[in-house]
Amino acid sequence: MYSRIAGTGRFLPEKVLTNKDLEKMVETSDEWIRERTGIQERHIASDGETTLDLCEKAARNAIEMAGIEPADIDMIIVGTTTPDLVFPNMGVLLQDRLGIHGCMAMGIEAACTGFIYALSIADKFIKTGNAKRALVVGAETLSRIIDWSDRTTCVLFGDGAGAVILEASEEPGVISTHLHADGKYKDLLYFPSGVSRGFADLKSGTDFVQMKGNEVFKVAVTTLGRIVEETLEANDMSADEIDWLIPHQANIRIIEGTARKLKMPMERVIVTIHEHGNTSAASVPMALDVAVREGRVQRGQTLLLEAFGGGFTWGSALIRF
Ligand code: UT7
Repeated sequence: MYSRIAGTGRFLPEKVLTNKDLEKMVETSDEWIRERTGIQERHIASDGETTLDLCEKAARNAIEMAGIEPADIDMIIVGTTTPDLVFPNMGVLLQDRLGIHGCMAMGIEAACTGFIYALSIADKFIKTGNAKRALVVGAETLSRIIDWSDRTTCVLFGDGAGAVILEASEEPGVISTHLHADGKYKDLLYFPSGVSRGFADLKSGTDFVQMKGNEVFKVAVTTLGRIVEETLEANDMSADEIDWLIPHQANIRIIEGTARKLKMPMERVIVTIHEHGNTSAASVPMALDVAVREGRVQRGQTLLLEAFGGGFTWGSALIRF
């Protein structure tokens, strides 16, 4: 038994924040942001628009493409770092929004790797016969935890949600997934507050995403190079058998580095960072949905998905679409 992607979906908030807009907010330039990151604009949730709102729209989009009803879903898993509430978890909140009741529903926090972790977990439930049809979502409103006066982070991130319907199939599907984490890097990219430790005084200026960008960059490039190799080796495949690389969209230079490692031309890499920015757990499923809806990713093709984020966490999924 395998799991296969039956439908994809995405939702981006209406409000667009361009590099030019950011020039008015912090000491930066459109040129610096484009050259160093590849980002031109990002979408930002409006006041009162929450991660759950984005999740619901992306999920309904994927449900529609899969040609199923919400009631056909027997597992919901949402990867996010920016949930609406501490609990109930985002899977449960989304289940209620979709008007279905009783199926297992969970949230998973693995920063930018959240969707790959969620996909891998759902795949295992389906492979072992414990679920037949899973709704897997990656969604964020990172704009809520960014210091908008800090140019080293605020130019990078955006909001959005991406979703897939994963269903049981006799043919692959998800061929393999590979998950990793290393907590020794916990101080390079993190959010400093939490329920148990307590929230900092907002005025202290620490209650925001903290990142040592330069150091994260170096580890990301080498780690993503390794994970794509690990994925190919595990399946005895070479890079030229991959039709599309669908990477986490953190920095165009990191994406190009991974493509170079695979000797893949950029024509076979899905890039959305210019329009989406870094949307953390939402980035890979949104890039997948863009590629599917534009007709670039076709049924039967082989896709390599990968992500890297705070923790560090990182992972990949090899998929026959
Ligand atoms: O998604 C999870 C994983 N996250 C990532 O993978 C992010 C990884 N890191 C990166 O993408 C890059 O490190 C950044 C885009 C964050 C930064 O690019 P960089 O080429 O590593 O720049 P840098 O941090 O080395 O800074 C270079 C210069 C500095 O000035 P000095 O010290 O050389 O005078 C910064 O102060 O650029 C300056 N700078 C900026 N200038 C204009 C930093 N941010 C900005 C800015 N606008 N927004």
